[in-house]
Amino acid sequence: MEITRRSLTLTLFLSLYIVSALSLSFFSPTDNYLINCGSSVDAAVYNRHFVSDDDSYNPNSPLLSATRTIPLANQNPAPNSPQIYNTARIFRKLSKYEFEVKDPGTHMVRLHFYPFVSSNLDLNYAHFHVLVNGYVVLSNFTVANVATPLVKEYFIWVESNKLVITFMPTRRDEFGFVNAIEVISAPKDLIADMAILVSGNKTEKFDGLTKQALETLYRVNVGGPKVTPFNDTVWRTWVPDNGFFESSELSSRIYFSGRIKYQNGGASREVGPDFVYSTARVIASTNASIPDANMTWEFPVKEGFQYLVRLHFCDIASMTLGLLYFNVYINGHLAYENLDLSSITYMLASPFYADFVVDSDSYGIVRVSVGPSNMSMARAVDGILNGVEIMKMNNSVGSLDGKMCAGMVLRSWPRGNIGVLFPLVAVVCLVLSVYVLMHKRTVGTRDSVARDSVAWSKLPTDVPEEKLKDGDEHLSGKA
Ligand SMILES: *[C@@H]1O[C@H](CO)[C@@H](O)[C@H](O)[C@H]1NC(C)=O
Ligand SMILES: *[C@@H]1O[C@H](CO)[C@@H](O)[C@H](O)[C@H]1NC(C)=O
Ligand SMILES: *[C@@H]1O[C@H](CO)[C@@H](O)[C@H](O)[C@H]1NC(C)=O
Ligand SMILES: *[C@@H]1O[C@H](CO)[C@@H](O)[C@H](O)[C@H]1NC(C)=O
Ligand SMILES: *[C@@H]1O[C@H](CO)[C@@H](O)[C@H](O)[C@H]1NC(C)=O
Ligand SMILES: *[C@@H]1O[C@H](CO)[C@@H](O)[C@H](O)[C@H]1NC(C)=O
Ligand SMILES: *[C@@H]1O[C@H](CO)[C@@H](O)[C@H](O)[C@H]1NC(C)=O
Repeated sequence: MEITRRSLTLTLFLSLYIVSALSLSFFSPTDNYLINCGSSVDAAVYNRHFVSDDDSYNPNSPLLSATRTIPLANQNPAPNSPQIYNTARIFRKLSKYEFEVKDPGTHMVRLHFYPFVSSNLDLNYAHFHVLVNGYVVLSNFTVANVATPLVKEYFIWVESNKLVITFMPTRRDEFGFVNAIEVISAPKDLIADMAILVSGNKTEKFDGLTKQALETLYRVNVGGPKVTPFNDTVWRTWVPDNGFFESSELSSRIYFSGRIKYQNGGASREVGPDFVYSTARVIASTNASIPDANMTWEFPVKEGFQYLVRLHFCDIASMTLGLLYFNVYINGHLAYENLDLSSITYMLASPFYADFVVDSDSYGIVRVSVGPSNMSMARAVDGILNGVEIMKMNNSVGSLDGKMCAGMVLRSWPRGNIGVLFPLVAVVCLVLSVYVLMHKRTVGTRDSVARDSVAWSKLPTDVPEEKLKDGDEHLSGKA
């Protein structure tokens, strides 16, 4: 499986065939649901319109069985808090939002959580699970005493014509909540299928990335300011890298005021906006010697998962083409040797990204380093990085949070028709183990990944809600 660095470079180059036309069009997603949960009115956040999920005001509400959930309003909202955070929908039992998908493929799902205290309920005490189309995205989740809203973002591959988000309290006397939901078709070029697997000091090809469920953990604008959803092409948030960068005296931040040259086939404006590619950190040589140093960023992660590391590069620093060569290391392993942006983009200020799949190191850190290679030149830029994204990939049971598969999570709901559920769950977990076994044998053949994920993605969401009946409609505060 090991492929040489030369062919790796070639593959990356081919996957980035460059046409000279520059793209400038705006992204307009086919599926674009913005939901203001627990509110009877719509809300605007900058120029984005979140609609009520109350079916007596919004007949198209994606919320199923609204009668078993409770809309809650914050009586003392903070004056500057966006309106979507002043209400929440409370789930006392298994509840679902079902979105019609007109454009199958990768969808971005964002869940907004900003707990507040109302007269009879303190949202800081919520404990719940969240499933998206059969993936466990949050398990026994709680969000307490946060200073700013917490936005969880996922990328979910959807093959059917619906996307279902299921909320379920961890126990019968617990509850779940959500303030707002976004379900948006992702730009087609946002998640490519191929990445580079960095395992030990080897690199291999990784296929089937689009079919993984991903959770965004870090999205960093290296050397630059925060970018808000209002200023991003697909409403993402990018934060400055100060908290992750290990200071290095030999590096500097740079800012480019010219135009970023997006090219067809290269990183598009949807992959990274101008704000990200116009700033960077660099290592540069100012005299006859090449600096003997790396720039390093560290990201705490959970062990036991694989991570997608997306690195954004745009040579906004060199004087001419052909002067910049550098190495990229992940967790101390050489991930890309002698990266030469000129040979990929053929022009300066033109963006490029590379995707790497890695395990966390044994300390629960993903470590990214960029530094001079042995082709680096004196009196030139010898290393650059413009942006980093770190995404968690689902584990072998289809979870992004813990070791329970969706079937087990559903089974953990204490009441209801366990007699019907149990065999179903047993089948789910059996199919899953067989799948994992088969997958281990067929790793690398793309067909098997695609075929298996079809069967798998259908299972857990088909459990009818009626099977999970519960009589308790009352709310009781827990403070
Ligand atoms: C959920 O998490 C809480 C702590 O936040 C813990 O006390 C409880 O046992 C957990 N419940 C389950 C079912 O894992
Ligand atoms: C790294 O490569 C060397 C040989 O090139 C090999 O001896 C060593 O075992 C490799 N280390 C790991 C962790 O794979
Ligand atoms: C968008 O970017 C502009 C230019 O940097 C900035 O002035 C403005 O505050 C940003 N808007 C938001 C909502 O972040
Ligand atoms: C080059 O500059 C660096 C600092 O910028 C300095 O540490 C180094 O000694 C210089 N090397 C030479 C050969 O002058
Ligand atoms: C840069 O980082 C790599 C990987 O951790 C390491 O092997 C190399 O020695 C570092 N270079 C310098 C100059 O520290
Ligand atoms: C370049 O560096 C690699 C290790 O990073 C080394 O194996 C190789 O010999 C070096 N090439 C030259 C020309 O020095
Ligand atoms: C994530 O789940 C899919 C099935 O939906 C599976 O094909 C894939 O192997 C899982 N990823 C990992 C890293 O186990």
